[in-house]
Amino acid sequence: MSQGASTPVSSADTPLQGKRALVAGASRGIGEAIASRLLEAGMTVVGLARSADGLQASRARMPAPQRYLPFACDLASDTGLQSLAQHGHARELDLLVLSSGTMHTGTTAAATLAQFDEQYAANLRAPYALVQAALPGLVARRGQIVLICSSAALHGRAGVGQYAALQAATRSLGESIRDEVNRDGVRVLTVLPGSTAGARQQALHRNAGLEYREDVLMQPDDVARMVIASLQLPQSAEVTELHIRPMKKR
Ligand SMILES: NC(=O)c1ccc[n+]([C@@H]2O[C@H](COP(=O)([O-])OP(=O)(O)OC[C@H]3O[C@@H](n4cnc5c(N)ncnc54)[C@H](OP(=O)(O)O)[C@@H]3O)[C@@H](O)[C@H]2O)c1
Repeated sequence: MSQGASTPVSSADTPLQGKRALVAGASRGIGEAIASRLLEAGMTVVGLARSADGLQASRARMPAPQRYLPFACDLASDTGLQSLAQHGHARELDLLVLSSGTMHTGTTAAATLAQFDEQYAANLRAPYALVQAALPGLVARRGQIVLICSSAALHGRAGVGQYAALQAATRSLGESIRDEVNRDGVRVLTVLPGSTAGARQQALHRNAGLEYREDVLMQPDDVARMVIASLQLPQSAEVTELHIRPMKKR
């Protein structure tokens, strides 16, 4: 085939089949949609969240539940991180997906330091700790990391200062990790979604007294499909950052 001619694309370019992933935040929302698509692509998926019941419920919704291994632990606590290390779930991974976390709203005058600390532990410290634990295995396998960040990383807005600042930090962390591990053949994808349907948006709308309309929001599977496509690119390229927004405007 001549230089520049199109090469037939197949999911075998960077095959996911038979490989192992850990998805943090797999019990609902974006993490669950990604876990589901990874199972469909033939991976074994360790699904992580705090609630064992939530994980069991998500397992029942998965396309290949026999390859979905639920693991309940709180990534915001050292006890949770130790439990993860003891069970060895962050070792020997081909893919680490970080989609867990929490969100508090409130103006700078009103939001508490306790809320800031809770979000720091869950949204920034936990991904850092997980990447640290998984890196030796990811390097050995020339694996991939996906950081689900947020469009809030790009601009602060009234009432979301704590969350936006931590998302900006997560995005920056992703850039540093990418710069460190690309040379080892490890790819790092940072995803910055806009409003995506699910429990989090339901709660945000409820708290703000707004009508929740799923039809104008992006769907978790929209994000999942873009992530899977990026993961399956040949090793000659890396998608570094994905900006995805709802198409319908209010
Ligand atoms: N939804 C949106 O509109 C939107 C927009 C932009 C970016 N994002 C980002 O995308 C990611 C996923 O969003 P989402 O809407 O799917 O979130 P979600 O519905 O709130 O789900 C969060 C997931 O993380 C788990 N989790 C939370 N805290 C945890 C902890 N300390 N340890 C372990 N697991 C924990 C939750 O399960 P448990 O509660 O059982 O622990 C759940 O599985 C988040 O990082 C969010 O910032 C979301």
